[in-house]
Amino acid sequence: MTASTGLSGVNQAEPDTALAPLEVTDLSTTFVANRRRIEVVRGVSFTLRRGETLMLLGESGCGKSVTARSIMQLYGSAAELGGSVRMNGQELLGLPEPALRSLRGGQIALIPQDPTGALDPLRRIGAQLTEVLAVHGIERVKRAGRRRAEELLAMVGIPDPKRVADSYPHELSGGMRQRAVIAIAVSCDPQVLIADEPTTALDVTVQAQILELLAELRERLGTAVLMVTHDVGVAGDFGGQIGVMYAGRLVEEGPAREVLASPRHPYTQGLLDSLPAPDIPRGTLRSIEGSPPGVGAFPAGCAFAPRCPKARPACRGEDPPLRRVRPDRSAACPVVNPATPTPGRAA
Ligand SMILES: Nc1ncnc2c1ncn2[C@@H]1O[C@H](COP(=O)(O)OP(=O)(O)OP(=O)(O)O)[C@@H](O)[C@H]1O
Ligand code: SF4
Ligand SMILES: [Mg+2]
Repeated sequence: MTASTGLSGVNQAEPDTALAPLEVTDLSTTFVANRRRIEVVRGVSFTLRRGETLMLLGESGCGKSVTARSIMQLYGSAAELGGSVRMNGQELLGLPEPALRSLRGGQIALIPQDPTGALDPLRRIGAQLTEVLAVHGIERVKRAGRRRAEELLAMVGIPDPKRVADSYPHELSGGMRQRAVIAIAVSCDPQVLIADEPTTALDVTVQAQILELLAELRERLGTAVLMVTHDVGVAGDFGGQIGVMYAGRLVEEGPAREVLASPRHPYTQGLLDSLPAPDIPRGTLRSIEGSPPGVGAFPAGCAFAPRCPKARPACRGEDPPLRRVRPDRSAACPVVNPATPTPGRAA
C-alpha cells in the first residue's frame, strides 16, 4: 500500500525512521464531572516501533479503552490528559483539534470496541470508504476513490468487494462489518493502528481470521499495532509485547511469550491461573479472589494488595513503579522481583 500521509498541517516532513511511531510517556487520564475528578489511567508508558505490537491485557474496567481513546484524544474537555504522546517525536497532547482531526484516521487509526458505532448505518460501505480517502487527500477523484475502496475491501479478505461496497452495514455479517471497519482504519496507511477488542463480538472462527488479517497487515504495511484485549488467548496468539494493566497502571511488560510463560507480577500470575486448562476438571477453575477496585477508589499503596496472595504490610504503603527486572521485562512488584536478590535465591 503506497498511499501518501494524511498529516497536512501537522508535520509534512518524512518521518525519521529512528523515531518511534508511538511513544507514550507517563500518560494519565482524569475525568472531570460535577466537580469530581476521577483518575482512570495512571502513568502509562510504552514505545511502539514500526511493525511492532503491544497487547494491552487486563480485566474489564482497568482502563484499556480509556488509554486507547486518550492516545487518540477523543475525550475533549471531558478529561484532563497528562504526560506525553509522541508520534515520530512530535508531541500530540495539546495539538489543536483541526490538526488532530487530520491525524486521526490518517496517521493513527482506531478500530473501536463497538464496530457498529464505527459505521454510518445510513450510508453504503463504499461511500464511507471513499469519503475517508477524499478527506485525507488520498483519492479525491470519485471513480479512483471507488476503485481504491474495492481494492481495500479485497485486501481485508472480503471475497465480493463490489457487492460489499454497494451494501449498507446492516446487510453484512458481523465478520464482514468488522473487515469493513478495518478497511476504513487502514485506508490511509496509518503508521499506528489501535485495535480495541477487535474480535469480541465475533464467533471463534471469524475471530481467528480477523487476528490473522491484522497480523498480515502489520507485516505487509509495517504498521505499529496497539491491541486491546481482556482475552489471554488472543494476547498469546498475536505475539509481540504484552502490557498487563491493573487499576489504570501497567504492572508488567515484556515479550508476550515470555510474560505468559513466566509472569513476574502476581496479578499476571492470577490471570493465567484463572484460565481453563484441559487437564483441570470442571469446577476446580481458580479465579483471582475479590474484584478490581472501582475508579476513584484505588487503595493506597499497591492497588492489587487486597487481592494479592503475596501481599505484605509494606505493599499497602507505597505504590510500586514498573521496574526493569530483565533486559526486556518490567514488573511493578518488588516482592516477587527484589532489587537486590537475596544470596542463594533467584530474583
Ligand atoms: N467517559 C468516561 N467518564 C467517566 N468514567 C469513564 C469514562 N469512560 C470510562 N470510564 C471509566 O473508566 C474505567 C475504565 O474504563 P475502560 O473502558 O477503559 O475499561 P476497559 O479496561 O476497556 O474494560 P472492558 O474490558 O470492559 O472494555 C471504568 O471504570 C469506566 O467506568
Ligand atoms: S507489591 Fe505486594 S501486593 Fe503488590 S503485587 Fe507485589 S506482592 Fe502483591
Ligand atoms: Mg474496553
